[in-house]
Amino acid sequence: MLSPKLETALNKQINEEYYSSYLYLAMAAYLEDMNLDGCAHWMRMQALEEYQHGMKLFDYLVDRGSRVELQAIQAPPKEWNSPVAAFQASLEHEQYMTGNINALADLAIAEKDHATNNIMQWYIAEQVEEEASVDNILKKLAMMGDTGPGLFMMDRELKSRVEPAPQAAE
Ligand code: FEO
Repeated sequence: MLSPKLETALNKQINEEYYSSYLYLAMAAYLEDMNLDGCAHWMRMQALEEYQHGMKLFDYLVDRGSRVELQAIQAPPKEWNSPVAAFQASLEHEQYMTGNINALADLAIAEKDHATNNIMQWYIAEQVEEEASVDNILKKLAMMGDTGPGLFMMDRELKSRVEPAPQAAE
């Protein structure tokens, strides 16, 4: 059984992961509207991955005999100033999520909950990847140009992102 503090904090993180999924869906809708199918596809895949992040925590709470308590998901923004601004917002959001995960790992250590600290290590490694992948897109856009041909080439590249593999619960 989780401590009440950890149970509350992990339930809040489930909500953050589902908000992330919603945010990426909103970005996908924005990019679809601009006919950037590849960029929109990348965001759709990201939304699926965030859903899985939420479910992994959902399953973890169930496994620990704790109660999952779903909360209202905040509405994400609808518009960004440009496609590159959407990717920049994605990077900033992932940096925010990394802060949340680090705080959860700190709390798990403070509560002497080794199992929660262990699952947080998985999320910590995942956050390194998440930040790196969007940072890579932004760096390439800076190199190739974030409008016109550069954006067109990136759109083609992002079409190839594959669906995330299902995540097993810890
Ligand atoms: Fe699940 Fe991208 O944080």
